Amino acid sequence: MNIPEHIAIIMDGNGRWAKKRGLPRTAGHIAGAKTIKSIVLHCNKIGVKVLTLYAFSTENWNRPEDEVNGLMKLIKNYLKNMNSYLKYNVRIRFFGDISVFSQDMQDRMKQIEQEFDKNTGMIFGIAINYGGRNEIKNAMKQIACKVKNNEIKLEDIDEQTVESNLYTKGLPNVDLLIRPSGEYRISNFLIWQSAYAEFYFMENILWPEFKPKHVDIAIEEYNKRNRTYGSVK
Ligand code: IPE
Ligand code: IPE
Ligand code: MG
Repeated sequence: MNIPEHIAIIMDGNGRWAKKRGLPRTAGHIAGAKTIKSIVLHCNKIGVKVLTLYAFSTENWNRPEDEVNGLMKLIKNYLKNMNSYLKYNVRIRFFGDISVFSQDMQDRMKQIEQEFDKNTGMIFGIAINYGGRNEIKNAMKQIACKVKNNEIKLEDIDEQTVESNLYTKGLPNVDLLIRPSGEYRISNFLIWQSAYAEFYFMENILWPEFKPKHVDIAIEEYNKRNRTYGSVK
């Protein structure tokens, strides 16, 4: 079985999971957060190099205030307890514009990235205040700045230049993008990195119910795909 180097998952369906049970949406997010560890450990075990989970999008600020507050509280709590991952040998990276968060939260994220850097296993990427368009816009600004300061020449800008100004710089492109909950869209997630990803949309499964076996099912399907990259095979 060919294991994708980079798997990206849109953790969707928390709200519907809660609604089905007559619970507030925030209860769905709490249940969803509990799913994360088993998926990270499974992907690390089977040899995935990068697993990126979509935790909070640049568009998610448009949700009702109490839901956003609930999500922020949950994320803060998650960051607080992240040391429990240290022993699993994973590294951690945050992808997104983290400058909008409190200084405490930003410091904690940087501290986590550093603390986990001694590990050698899978990179666990957490997309937080992440938007693909925002990421590309920021990359364009950084490149424009370098041109202005004569650090690089306009004619030298190539795809590699763009890649090296993304949050995911140096990491492999997304091979397999999984979205549970029956929505058939990418919602601004890793749009540059997923240019040639295989997509696997899952119906009848919401993120809080998502299990390691669902990763295996997606990888099985991935292995049936014929990746031609515009060529013929
Ligand atoms: C995804 O679940 C979690 C986040 C966006 C943080 P949703 O909250 O989008 O769940 P549904 O799509 O409303 O069911
Ligand atoms: C995408 O899910 C964002 C995350 C899972 C963090 P959404 O539920 O916010 O996306 P839409 O609204 O279906 O596009
Ligand atoms: Mg959703």
